[in-house]
Amino acid sequence: CGIVGYIGEQDAKEILLKGLEKLEYRGYDSAGIALAGEAGVTVIKEKGRIADLRAAVDFSAGAKTGIGHTRWATHGVPDVRNAHPHQDASGRFTLVHNGVIENYGKLAKEHLGGVRLQSDTDTEIIIQLVAKFAQGGLSTEEAFAETLGLLHGSYAIAMLDREDPDTIFVAKNKSPLLVGLGDGFNVVSSDAIAMLQVTDRFIELHDGEMVILKKEGIRIRTISGEPVSREPFRAELDAADIEKGTYPHYMLKEIDEQPAVLRKIIQAHRGPDGGLWLEEDTLRAITEADRLYIIAAGTSYHAGLVGKEYFEKFAGIPAEVHISSEFGYNMPILSERPLFIFISQSGETADSRQVLVKVKEMGHPSVTLTNVSGSTLSRESDHTVLLHAGPEIAVASTKAYTAQIAVLSILAACVAGTKGKSIGFDLIQELGIAANAAETVIDRKEDMEAVAFEFLQLSRNAFFIGRGIDYHVSLEGALKLKEISYIQAEGFAGGELKHGTIALIEEGTPVFALATQPELSANIRGNVKEVTARGAHACLLSMDGTAEESDRIVIPAVHPLLTPLVSVIPLQLISYYASLHRGCDVDQPRNLAKSVTVE
Ligand code: G6P
Repeated sequence: CGIVGYIGEQDAKEILLKGLEKLEYRGYDSAGIALAGEAGVTVIKEKGRIADLRAAVDFSAGAKTGIGHTRWATHGVPDVRNAHPHQDASGRFTLVHNGVIENYGKLAKEHLGGVRLQSDTDTEIIIQLVAKFAQGGLSTEEAFAETLGLLHGSYAIAMLDREDPDTIFVAKNKSPLLVGLGDGFNVVSSDAIAMLQVTDRFIELHDGEMVILKKEGIRIRTISGEPVSREPFRAELDAADIEKGTYPHYMLKEIDEQPAVLRKIIQAHRGPDGGLWLEEDTLRAITEADRLYIIAAGTSYHAGLVGKEYFEKFAGIPAEVHISSEFGYNMPILSERPLFIFISQSGETADSRQVLVKVKEMGHPSVTLTNVSGSTLSRESDHTVLLHAGPEIAVASTKAYTAQIAVLSILAACVAGTKGKSIGFDLIQELGIAANAAETVIDRKEDMEAVAFEFLQLSRNAFFIGRGIDYHVSLEGALKLKEISYIQAEGFAGGELKHGTIALIEEGTPVFALATQPELSANIRGNVKEVTARGAHACLLSMDGTAEESDRIVIPAVHPLLTPLVSVIPLQLISYYASLHRGCDVDQPRNLAKSVTVE
């Protein structure tokens, strides 16, 4: 979910709606705003997208204060009743919340025996508690603090009080939230992107802090009442980076940006002597570890699988990759000197963050690879390596994946260098070659569109197979396709399909087979024969040098360990066109959110 708030002299409605449009990547099941004017507080909520909300508030409210929310449903179905903002029974307090209140059932029983809840959400408990404490005689600020002290879980909150229209009450714990500063106005937002329209000066909030936001200034305090002072920072985001420009979709723009991102990464990791460079402390931390634990979710997890290969093959450090949401239950036996590497495009994924909190408590060092400087994971881990991919807006991750893989290869090669090991090739040069190859593939969009049409137009399901490093890419290919086209897709190790799933192959079932690895080419081609013999419609993706005449997609030759940087691009494009032809929402697929800040 995403939240925004504005207090100042301008039309709050427009600023909130624009802000929410920029936050839509965090969820778009329902949305709402609350505007505080002379006539009190008006709440407007709609199921669906911000565009639906915009249509519903097509009037001039004239309000100069307001809060807004876009929701990714956790507790309660996505409908208007469960949409934010929520109000207490008397309508005095209005609140938006991002996060999950774990003890809401217990709090409702213990403190609100008599009050009927109006929605199925865990959020409503917060507003009912504030109202109860205020009725009991506390000031709003103290009632808010009292409530926060009872909550277990994660929250970013903005609240209005009808009786004090010149204030927005704000709080943060575990969910991201920033305060933005302006001249004669102030704002609050889950992400700087949403408020770049009015300011680039932001203050980071820490867990357990509250803010009293007025148009003339802000005051930060802890829940227990100690004052906090903190300097603002300037968000180094170019507003143009977050516009689609002439592209029909962010996803296509972001696919196209990949060669430039690769070149930017090479540049950022070039030392004064022209060789590879990595910040010294980070390099030392990785080099000192006897085993690496890579933690990530979704596409970042798939990049981690490739990263493991680099650390083991280049630097000789054993590495294991874990899905962040599973790590807590299936914690492996840790080595003597473990180092945790978190990979997260957003740097906000709650599943990954809870692992970081746990391993920090255990005293283990950590490095975060993220695209967002100043993000929660970046702030809370010992070291950060940035991805330099620029804002990624489409929910389906593309350029962040290739950036993660490129950065992981650089990290591993730098560690190898420190250990006096040769990786056997010039990584800078080979990454440059991969960037050129990526460009060549991107130029073949029409061909990929034809593949999407030929193989996926009428399919209900699809399989992706590969061996070795190609297997990791097949997982990502399948994820891309299912995320945005809703075709059921699975990635398999080439040898594994025949151990069960081959039962699903029917006449015409599409199977995308990756055969970029010279030494594995014969085996994967054998697997293709097994499935085509049973009616599969196979699309072979190979590389110059290993290609055969009938291969449908051939990428230019790159170093065999860097093929994921290039081979994933046709799969991204095929998914894009499959989604487009099926009339799906490419950038905002159903049920998903780009940044999932709940566990
Ligand atoms: C969400 C997104 C995925 C993403 C995953 C991890 O589920 O929809 O595209 O891969 O989160 O996100 P992160 O920001 O941690 O890389």
